[in-house]
Amino acid sequence: MRLAILVACLLPTLAIADTPPRIEAPLTETRGDGWRGVNLYAGDAGCTDCHTNPDVAAMGPGGDLGPEVGLLGALYDRAELRAILVDARSVFGDETAMPAFGADGLLSPQDIEDLVAYLSELQPR
Ligand code: HEC
Repeated sequence: MRLAILVACLLPTLAIADTPPRIEAPLTETRGDGWRGVNLYAGDAGCTDCHTNPDVAAMGPGGDLGPEVGLLGALYDRAELRAILVDARSVFGDETAMPAFGADGLLSPQDIEDLVAYLSELQPR
């Protein structure tokens, strides 16, 4: 009996752990601007310190600390990309090298929306 109660309590937790974090609602009213996003990506936001991306390779060398992000439009939807950019730790765990850009105030909500717009347009080639 006690075991049954324990299992019943654990099941919902396991179901939640299986679902990748998502943030469905845009953080700002202004629609994300992909052009501003790509400039942040290769510039002030410092994404290319850790990531390569064939799209911006021509702008300079990319880092190899994080995975290549060239296929993201196919891999993640906007809600997942938003969650990764707001708080990578909540998605990849506390050990991740990727900064929690939104949660730690490194990027503004509009910066994040612009990056989501850019990344969600990347398609496999
Ligand atoms: C200090 C290094 C670092 C920086 C800076 C960084 N990332 Fe990451 N990123 C990582 C690592 C490492 C991972 C892999 C997640 C893990 O397993 O820890 C990752 C994963 C990702 C993923 C998921 C990719 C996949 O294939 O699953 C996305 C999307 C992403 N980063 C976007 C960005 C964007 C956009 C920026 C700039 C705002 C950025 N990252 C800046 C290190 C970084």
